[in-house]
Amino acid sequence: MLVEKNTPLQDLNTFGIAASADLLVRLRSVQDVQDFARSDWYQGPQAQTRPVLVLGGGSNLILSGDVVHAVVLKMEIPGIALVEETARHWIVQAGAGVRWHDLVVWTLQQGWGGLENMALIPGTVGAAPVQNIGAYGVELQDRFHSLDAVDLHTGEAFTLDAAQCAFGYRDSVFKHAPAQGGGLGLAGRAVITQVRLALPKQWRPELGYLELQRRMQASGCSQPSAQQIFDWVCAIRRAKLPDPAVLGNAGSFFKNPTVTEEQCRDIIAREPRIVHYPMPDGSVKLAAGWLIEACGWKGKTLGRAGVYEQQALVLVNRGTREDSVTGGEVMTLARAIQTSVYERFGIRLEPEPVLV
Ligand code: EPU
Repeated sequence: MLVEKNTPLQDLNTFGIAASADLLVRLRSVQDVQDFARSDWYQGPQAQTRPVLVLGGGSNLILSGDVVHAVVLKMEIPGIALVEETARHWIVQAGAGVRWHDLVVWTLQQGWGGLENMALIPGTVGAAPVQNIGAYGVELQDRFHSLDAVDLHTGEAFTLDAAQCAFGYRDSVFKHAPAQGGGLGLAGRAVITQVRLALPKQWRPELGYLELQRRMQASGCSQPSAQQIFDWVCAIRRAKLPDPAVLGNAGSFFKNPTVTEEQCRDIIAREPRIVHYPMPDGSVKLAAGWLIEACGWKGKTLGRAGVYEQQALVLVNRGTREDSVTGGEVMTLARAIQTSVYERFGIRLEPEPVLV
């Protein structure tokens, strides 16, 4: 456990917002997390626990103030290993601090498919279950086996299976505050230390996503390998999503909203071109990027916060390293977009990254 005071966070959040942390603790093992939970850094003078902010790759985070007053826990637990082999799956375990994309590459190097559609998603393994990351037709929950976490209140380690994680669209038990009276919700309380994934031995390609089908047709290859799909996903993402190392961003800034079939009919009557996807439960998901573009925001800038030219769902840092966008500017732009979309379509867009 390594404790730092007044630490700059600009390089630790992919948006590149220049905030700092009062206190930052680097955690490199499960024992480190347990030691922190039982330490004075967490248990304050009146046995008050301090608020914590768990930081993985900082790729799904908007720092809205200049200083983060919570204790920032920088997760740096390393390691990737095969921990079990069943008749149908390879069970691979990775430490919370491993970069997600490195895990995807490692599994493909072993010859095990399953994660290729989620290539190049920024962030760490420990952050992946929090928002149930997903892309091109596959979500983390489709490959999830179990995870280990530490309860900061007790310092005890525990294990959760998929059902206990309560995964939803960009959602899990880790995004919700504990309910009064001790209901579900582990935000600010559980720190994920290890994640295990089940990779199918009978691998089948997941090619339902339109852009993947286009790539497949263009390549003339009808039975792509996992590595081939990995290459296509990387190419699609590089063309559409800004590289945070070049242009600060936090991926999709809003969730794709869901409406009822009736609401959707109503909107289609007014906006016949609206991009929408029927869901298995009868509801309809709308493409937030389309709604934002339709309101004229694509490529626009407000202060030093901008809307990406290639993908209106992504907000970007138009400032420089020395003169970076502030969290306040990002939120002002986000609210202006929400207002436009609400006034035109009657739909409230919900931010997707964690706002601190
Ligand atoms: N669209 C527009 N204008 C835009 C952006 C999109 O008209 O500016 C339309 C596209 O033409 C397309 C539809 O909206 O018909 C959907 O766009 P896209 O395929 O780019 O996907 P998305 O719904 O915008 C979601 C995820 C991404 C994920 C992709 C691919 C969310 C919030 N976002 O984006 O995840 O990579 O699908 O699966 O669900 C993330 O969560 O940070 C993220 C990048």
